[in-house]
Amino acid sequence: MLTESRFIRACRRQTTDTTPIWFMRQAGRYMPEYRAIREKVTMLEAIRSADLAHEITMQPINAFNLDAAIIFADILTPLIGMGISLDFLKGEGPHIDNPLRRTSDIDRLATPPAEETMPFALSAIRQTVADLTPRNIPLIGFCGAPFTLASYAIEGGGSRNYEHTKGMMYSEPAAWKRLMERVVTVLSDFLAKQVEAGVSALQIFDSWVGAVGPRDYAKFVAPYTKQLIEAGQKTGVPVIYFSTGTGTMLDQITALGSDVVSIDWRMGVDKAWSEIGYDKAIQGNLDPLLLFAPWREVQANTDAILAEANGRPGHIFNLGHGILPGTPVETVRRLADYVHEKAARLEQVAL
Ligand code: CP3
Repeated sequence: MLTESRFIRACRRQTTDTTPIWFMRQAGRYMPEYRAIREKVTMLEAIRSADLAHEITMQPINAFNLDAAIIFADILTPLIGMGISLDFLKGEGPHIDNPLRRTSDIDRLATPPAEETMPFALSAIRQTVADLTPRNIPLIGFCGAPFTLASYAIEGGGSRNYEHTKGMMYSEPAAWKRLMERVVTVLSDFLAKQVEAGVSALQIFDSWVGAVGPRDYAKFVAPYTKQLIEAGQKTGVPVIYFSTGTGTMLDQITALGSDVVSIDWRMGVDKAWSEIGYDKAIQGNLDPLLLFAPWREVQANTDAILAEANGRPGHIFNLGHGILPGTPVETVRRLADYVHEKAARLEQVAL
């Protein structure tokens, strides 16, 4: 566990020489090195090969000055071990042949331990940590949050309105609860095994939870998400909770108790942080689309975000959502360097 790295110190709200930066989805199609591997193997083959997952995880680390790596995998991988048939289709994204629609579908779900169903992920972590530790770069482990993961399992892929997911929440609340409990069982174990394998922090991705309103969040989502965060924290590493479209529910998100709250670009860091409270670290929040803009726009928005963070210890620079395919590599490189240089010149406020 690399407790003295810039990124982990910021997760703990300790002072750092400059603001740490990494990018959600930093390994992927915008990098030619990644595309070269994906020409030869499918997404699932890449995930299931510890050697390839290790190599892909290192690609952005070797290309840019980043303060953390995130293990190459997908939030949907744990569903396979539960009995869900997942594939990634070219140009379409994730696809599930047997989506969960009935109570009996939920009752059939297995909850096997991670070392049985995802040994490749744990090996990839061990290999990558061996590479990163001498460089003092921490590795982030991750999983999907219960709502976001369940939404894929129920809809069978991405969704616009989440009609089947909300349908199950409202019409079959007992089945929804059982599904949430099984997902939390599998993910809690997976998080703990990732820490055993060597990750220094955990991030929980709740990308689509902004689709539910505050009352449904409180009733159908928060209790299970909180349980998962607590399971992650039991391992002793900091836990980051990431969501989008949840600016109106920051009170509930803060109450989940994660060490770091990762916000999207639809709110200012200053306003969000004052609502979350300065006893938590904050991550974000450049609009990923800005990476396609002229440098002066990237720079102006980066300056604004750093000014909003106001030099407080505990700001981790990131995007407000994952990096998009087609993002210019040169802008990624330049932004990482710029954040380091600019933030080092800003005064840190002691709290
Ligand atoms: O961040 C990283 O670099 C680590 C690896 C990682 C991937 N997916 C690799 C991936 C992580 C952390 C994820 C998380 C993930 N996966 C999320 C949460 C974060 C977010 O962006 O909202 C979600 C919702 C998924 C589900 C998923 N996986 C989708 C919707 C897609 C297809 C569309 C897309 O965004 O690419 C994937 C495929 C996927 N996962 C790719 C990668 C690099 C692209 C695969 C390819 O075509 O090569």
